[in-house]
Amino acid sequence: MNVLVIGMGYVGTTLSLVLAKSGHQVTGLDLDLQKVSALNQGNIYFHEPGLQELLDELTSTDRLSFTTDVQKSIHDNDVVFICVGTPSNEDGSANLQYIKSAATMIGENINDYKVVIIKSTVPVGTNETFESWIQEANTTEFKVDVVSNPEFLREGNALYDSLNPDRVVIGSSSERATAIVKQLYYDVDCPILVTSRKGAELIKYTANAFLALKISFINEIAKLCDTIGVNIQDISNGIGTDHRIGSHFLNASLGYGGSCFPKDVSALLSTAAKYNVPLNIMKEVVAVNQIQPKYLLSQIKQQLGNLTNKKMALLGLSFKPHTDDIRESPALRMIDLLAKEQAIIHVHDPVVKLSSNKINQFNTPEEAAENADAIVICTEWPQYKQLPWGEIKRKMNIPYIFDGRNMLDSKQLKQIGFRYRGIGYS
Ligand code: UGA
Repeated sequence: MNVLVIGMGYVGTTLSLVLAKSGHQVTGLDLDLQKVSALNQGNIYFHEPGLQELLDELTSTDRLSFTTDVQKSIHDNDVVFICVGTPSNEDGSANLQYIKSAATMIGENINDYKVVIIKSTVPVGTNETFESWIQEANTTEFKVDVVSNPEFLREGNALYDSLNPDRVVIGSSSERATAIVKQLYYDVDCPILVTSRKGAELIKYTANAFLALKISFINEIAKLCDTIGVNIQDISNGIGTDHRIGSHFLNASLGYGGSCFPKDVSALLSTAAKYNVPLNIMKEVVAVNQIQPKYLLSQIKQQLGNLTNKKMALLGLSFKPHTDDIRESPALRMIDLLAKEQAIIHVHDPVVKLSSNKINQFNTPEEAAENADAIVICTEWPQYKQLPWGEIKRKMNIPYIFDGRNMLDSKQLKQIGFRYRGIGYS
């Protein structure tokens, strides 16, 4: 099939590559010339495992190209995926400006029947509105069917998740369009769930909200663990083995971040408020998450007292490992909190380069930790497990580790002589 993907962020780029790998003829459209040029030159301009190799592989196939040409790309393709961003407005609702301009672009350039598939995370009812926006701009007799097909991939695992989805959700009011979308997914081995467009939109928000809820839930229990001296990882293992609960997303942490959970939970709350349905649990999920960095700070202050001029080595800046994305990263909250305490902040991240006058960034964790009064782990980059901890300890001023991701082996570190504290885990 000839497929156009609009929006070359990490979702749109991954989708373009995966569809081309499956044999479709794919055009990636973005108005940002820099992104398009980078991709046309064969460069993935963000950090996401496996994508560069896949792009290299596809370069020889002629099945994939990237463009800024709106008219030609819409003319040449009858299936159009929408992968543009839906950032948060000030009030927490989803900002649909990019969605609306995509609809207008399609309406103004329609030259045949098109199936438009919305992958962007959009509030309930947006697929319907999107169709009316297309029609407002459409002066021809050609028809469009708009289908909701939410994306469930995780950053840092984008390629794996796209090739091995748990399910494909299709929200559609047209049998013709549903059949076309099913054909696109001919090679995936998972359930394909067909529902209404509103149903698909709400599935996406509910999935992210539930995962965020699991994290805030375990983070609350972790605080109880800290108080009564129980290890939260024993609790996570103890409940996670119950298949009704499941073991995923039960890692206590300094909170969830990223471009999805914070934004999507706010947007869900905003939708619920619009319909006068109070989602009380979700309000608490947000409140707990906002407290987490402060909670870690209070743990640090409990041990180190006044932090003025104390040297803190903060390891990890991205909101999760295997990505260079720092949107809503708890590490940035930690930096702000430590800066307010007038601590000296040294940071390291394997891929993120942060420009901020609050920090000094180092090329290695060892350098960041030199003469430090404490190490604060903010992102569970796997390489931090393998650091020469004995050597690092010898060069520190005070050997404290505050593990905001519960990723390190506390027993081993204590044997070396570190004082270790995790979240609900000491
Ligand atoms: C999330 C969802 O997991 C995807 O299914 C969804 O498609 C995506 O949002 C989206 O809507 O686009 P993502 O934000 O990339 O994916 O990353 P996650 O792996 O879900 O992690 C989100 C945050 O939760 C990270 O800060 C992570 O460190 C934190 N987390 C995760 C915890 O603190 N504890 C856990 O047990 C798991």
